[in-house]
Amino acid sequence: MTESQETLSNLLQENRRFEPPAELAAAANVTASAYTEASADRLAFWEAAADRLTWAERWHTTLEWEAPFAKWFVGGKLNIAYNCVDRHVEAGNGDKVAFYWEGEPEGDSRVITYADLQKEVSKAANALTELGVGKGDRVAIYMPMIPELPVSLLACARIGAIHSVVFGGFSASALKSRIDDADAKLVITADGGFRRGAPSALKPTVDEAVAECPQIEKVLVVRRTGQDVAVTDKDVWWHDVVERQSDQHTPEPHDAEDPLYILYTSGTTGKPKGILHTTGGYLTQTAWTHNAVFDLKPDTDIYWCTADIGWVTGHSYIVYGPLANGATSVIYEGTPDTPHRGRFWEIVQKYKVTILYTAPTAIRTFMKWGDDIPAKFDMSSLRVLGSVGEPINPEAYVWYREHIGASRTPVVDTWWQTETGAIMISPLPGVTAGKPGAAMQPLPGIVADVVDDQGKSVPNGGGGFLVVREPWPSMLRGIWGDPERYKETYWSRFDGFYFPGDGAKRDDDGDLWLLGRVDDVMLVSGHNISTTEVESALVSHPKVAEAAVVGATDPVTGQAIVSFVILRGSAEEGGDIAAELRQHVAKVLGPIAKPRQIMVVPELPKTRSGKIMRRLLRDVAENRSLGDVTTLTDSSVMNLISEKLPSAKSED
Ligand code: WT7
Repeated sequence: MTESQETLSNLLQENRRFEPPAELAAAANVTASAYTEASADRLAFWEAAADRLTWAERWHTTLEWEAPFAKWFVGGKLNIAYNCVDRHVEAGNGDKVAFYWEGEPEGDSRVITYADLQKEVSKAANALTELGVGKGDRVAIYMPMIPELPVSLLACARIGAIHSVVFGGFSASALKSRIDDADAKLVITADGGFRRGAPSALKPTVDEAVAECPQIEKVLVVRRTGQDVAVTDKDVWWHDVVERQSDQHTPEPHDAEDPLYILYTSGTTGKPKGILHTTGGYLTQTAWTHNAVFDLKPDTDIYWCTADIGWVTGHSYIVYGPLANGATSVIYEGTPDTPHRGRFWEIVQKYKVTILYTAPTAIRTFMKWGDDIPAKFDMSSLRVLGSVGEPINPEAYVWYREHIGASRTPVVDTWWQTETGAIMISPLPGVTAGKPGAAMQPLPGIVADVVDDQGKSVPNGGGGFLVVREPWPSMLRGIWGDPERYKETYWSRFDGFYFPGDGAKRDDDGDLWLLGRVDDVMLVSGHNISTTEVESALVSHPKVAEAAVVGATDPVTGQAIVSFVILRGSAEEGGDIAAELRQHVAKVLGPIAKPRQIMVVPELPKTRSGKIMRRLLRDVAENRSLGDVTTLTDSSVMNLISEKLPSAKSED
């Protein structure tokens, strides 16, 4: 540590490599020359990317940078909905499918072409105008994954209203605080959606929130499930107000820096931050990265991102990026285990999906359910697989490539955040020889680095803090209503650099590995050890499907490593599993990383977006009473874990 000047230990060795398939490489949208072009002239590179869009007026200045405030494509004007919808219809692609929508109840599906989408978005835009929503007004959206959700986003974008999507699993108080913070005047919602085989109500939550939000003038309600709903005097039905509108609407150009949306992110602690994204730079980078990272061929690919539109992944890679590129996408309403655990693979087979983008938490769940489930389906259409949301453990990457991608498809591990708006660090599937677990290199046009606590670049083989050194087009423009918090949160740790809060290492070849949030790093006998590396070591044991690791106070070592593991479907919870796993970690990473304790648990506490909540596990590991569990997917998980505690094993 002291000799190498590292701030984060580099323990995991991984030598597997996967070359890009020759055929894919030969026809790739983006080749290695993009890196040289972008490093020769970064702004010219992003100008060319912006030129993939249709502008009503060209910008006069590519970037105005008054750190930490950026303006991109200054003076330019464009309409995002026109770029995502109308221009494809005008180009003769009106009959092309924009969305294959698959409801959770089997047989419940809709096919929406670009021409259909143009009509639906126009009607919704006219309805918003009739309801008194104008440019710059905020609209809160609280909906299930139904076609009216992307239509609502695009209708807002079309008229210049600012959408604030609140994930449909959040509570009335979470919805209320987000409505208040953005001072929204309209809510768009539905009676409910289908989840786990049953209608799941949304409207009562909206009623509860809106009862305390006098600024809300109207609530626009889609009938999806047909559940009984209480009708308040603010309510209007989508099928009354939207359906009777004209399907013609002329999109007006908006300024490149006009706000597009606010999306709240909780980070690890504190009051949610309203992350603000604007128009020209955001669409430029989401569209460019979607084309490059997934090698999208709009005429032949069927693309499916399994995220919820309530998260940034859904905003950027279900709605804006894919539609700007004229893609054909699948949208699925429900959960992966309804009505059976092969539902995802059945959908891949049904629509002949070629590009699949999902999260490590889902991949590890599929590993736990067993290899035999995907094996029953024909998934030979797949050609590129993507991952996002957390570090992907090397073993999960290899499982994904092998059991979903038939050992044929490249896996792209894409690092980014709500704040970055679009993918920042990722392999390119036709260029990069992938390493399982590594996000590899910053994309062309992105300047990222790994630095020590003084802000100095670490050498190859070193670990530290991930930073972004130069502004990028889809970067957040601030935190809604709180410029000081924006500076403090992202720009104060390292002078002049954006600090996302993640740890990373640069391997001997100079490739990047993300190591989780720096708040989670453990200090064991003077070594900074990332939870990610220990978790990946545990997941590399054939009996382990999923693992979460935390540092607990220890009288001898400062902190000690405590692990929670979920076993694979096939593994028996034998008497000495804890000892076996402790030895395994010591062998893979070295004795310093050997956990003090291993607990076998049935589930792990996760946020609604699937990230492990290590804070709660730290409480368990240190025998504290549990902190706030309201953002958990399922708060009974913590009871399950607490019940298991007496059997927890501590050795040595
Ligand atoms: C945080 C951002 C990006 C859209 C979904 C999550 C973690 C995300 C990766 C990855 C390692 C990753 C980071 C980041 N993260 N992708 N490929 N490898 N970590 O958006 O909720 O804003 O979360 O997710 O810690 O900071 P978000």
